[in-house]
Amino acid sequence: MVRIPGDKSISHRYAMLGAIAEGASRFHNFSAARDCESTLDCVAKLGSAWRRLDDAAIEVQGTGRQLKAASGALDCGNSGSTMRMLSGILAGQPFTSELHGDESLSRRPMARIIKPLTEMGASVSSSEGGRPPLRVTGRALKAIQYRPEVASAQVKSCVLFAGLFASGETVVEEPITTRDHGEIALRAFGAEVDRIGNVSRILGGQHLRAIEARVPGDLSSAAFFLCAAALFPGSHITLPGILMNPTRARLLDILMQMGLAVSVGHMEEHHGELVGAIEARGAGWNGGVISGKDTAALIDEIPVLAAAAPYSKRGVEVRDGKELRVKESDRIVAVATNLRKMGAEVEERPDGMKIPGGQHLHGAELDSFGDHRIAMAFAVAALRAEGETTIQNADAAGVSYPTFFDELTSITEN
Ligand code: S3P
Repeated sequence: MVRIPGDKSISHRYAMLGAIAEGASRFHNFSAARDCESTLDCVAKLGSAWRRLDDAAIEVQGTGRQLKAASGALDCGNSGSTMRMLSGILAGQPFTSELHGDESLSRRPMARIIKPLTEMGASVSSSEGGRPPLRVTGRALKAIQYRPEVASAQVKSCVLFAGLFASGETVVEEPITTRDHGEIALRAFGAEVDRIGNVSRILGGQHLRAIEARVPGDLSSAAFFLCAAALFPGSHITLPGILMNPTRARLLDILMQMGLAVSVGHMEEHHGELVGAIEARGAGWNGGVISGKDTAALIDEIPVLAAAAPYSKRGVEVRDGKELRVKESDRIVAVATNLRKMGAEVEERPDGMKIPGGQHLHGAELDSFGDHRIAMAFAVAALRAEGETTIQNADAAGVSYPTFFDELTSITEN
């Protein structure tokens, strides 16, 4: 059994909304991710004090909509979620904030949030090509109807958070459904948010109330153990208290189609989010095609599915995944480079990859490319390879899952 830390996407949103709510919020099983610490450090600099109650519980003091200008730049570390979503809140604050990040974040595209926030009336400047650092000068905002070009939950949450500070109704119409944790968290804090199909709406001027909530276990972190189980017929793993939100749980359908035996029990709802206990058994690893809406829904799990692909019967093909190139690393290059070092055949494509099945891999000297999900994906791939694998910069895993290697060691030793 592995107890997975709290979901990173929900933890970011809870911390940010807690910071602008009225009263003190308490979050249990809050993500241990370094990324979420970046969010907490930023909101603290903006006047929302937080403290640890125990190992996995925190209290965030809300400021009631009105943050204060930070005395220096806000360091978002490696976290695109922090930079993109916090900018939405800062766009509605009457001061200028500067947000920067590490080398990887400094390469990531921000035009996708600069455009809507500028349309709403904020002034946002960036480095060349819409890259960080950002300078966000907040104003009284006006509501917009926005159709993002890329399917991105971070962009959707950014615009909806800004919508809280806009006059009128802000509408986001997405090209493809993305995770709806922003909408669900806003509702948990007492805001009225509408979501019908791919259209989400929020009325400006609403006040948020502090909550006490438990963050469900992160399904994207659970994915590494599920894929590890898939690689070993006869293996068995139990993961209690995992997020089952339908916009994230497509992973389980795909894993079942690919051959993993999965059952989910003990379903509960926590502040609008579904939670369940997963039991999985390795049965036979078939592989398959991931495309269209599935690629968007599984964008964070594709590194581990691809790293495990050579061991499958039919191989794995990923299509429609251009976004993989602008994550914490270029994940198409990172996966292909590491798999080739392990002796695998991989076809790299502009928007995906094709990895034949039935391959035998050997251990190798790999690199995480500074990307947490690449470090963890290749730790899983290494389990079935012949010989030893070394992953340089493996501590990148801490960006989302600091205790990953301890947990992996404990389940593989049993
Ligand atoms: C996230 C959305 C996704 C995902 C990221 C977390 C979120 O990014 O890859 O890890 O919490 O909204 P995009 O919004 O760029 O697709």
